Amino acid sequence: DPALSPAMRIGHGFDLHRLEPGYKLIIGGLDIPHDRGCVAHSDGDVLLHCVTDAVLGALCLEDIGQLFPDNDPEWKGASSDIFMNEAMRLCDEMGYKVSNLDATIIAQRPKLSPHKETIRDNVAELLRCDRRLVNIKAKTHEKVDSLGENRSIGCHCVVLLVRK
Ligand code: CDP
Ligand code: ZN
Repeated sequence: DPALSPAMRIGHGFDLHRLEPGYKLIIGGLDIPHDRGCVAHSDGDVLLHCVTDAVLGALCLEDIGQLFPDNDPEWKGASSDIFMNEAMRLCDEMGYKVSNLDATIIAQRPKLSPHKETIRDNVAELLRCDRRLVNIKAKTHEKVDSLGENRSIGCHCVVLLVRK
């Protein structure tokens, strides 16, 4: 049925992690020096979790938590590359590739602009597309709520997949 393999598929992702001292802050595969990091079962990469869920969502597959349960010891401390690679393997298998991705990371601190281009390269490599098809933005949360009070970090993104 051609209606079940449309020319384009859109996906949305959202993720949020609690921030606490004594944990690493890993965003888009980059280990960023900071006084706190993400509490998580895996490496807590809020951006890669968000992007993985957007790709899986576009394909109408189970989400990251269903594919990689956080009570499964196999994923303890796992690099989020594993989640991205599995989502992209499924994407390829279903006959799609990335058209473009747009992401917004919400973090009161640290300043992410110095790291944005490195993160962009990492995400493009994982998405198997040109870096110019990947956009990474960062916003503060105007010092309000857990995001603005440095108690959490969040991310939103949308991805467009096109038939290969
Ligand atoms: O001014 P506006 O409220 O739109 O944005 P903001 O949250 O005050 O952030 C201003 C700019 O700082 C953003 O456009 C980002 O380029 C940058 N930023 C950053 O590099 N790292 C963050 N964690 C937050 C914001
Ligand atoms: Zn996550």
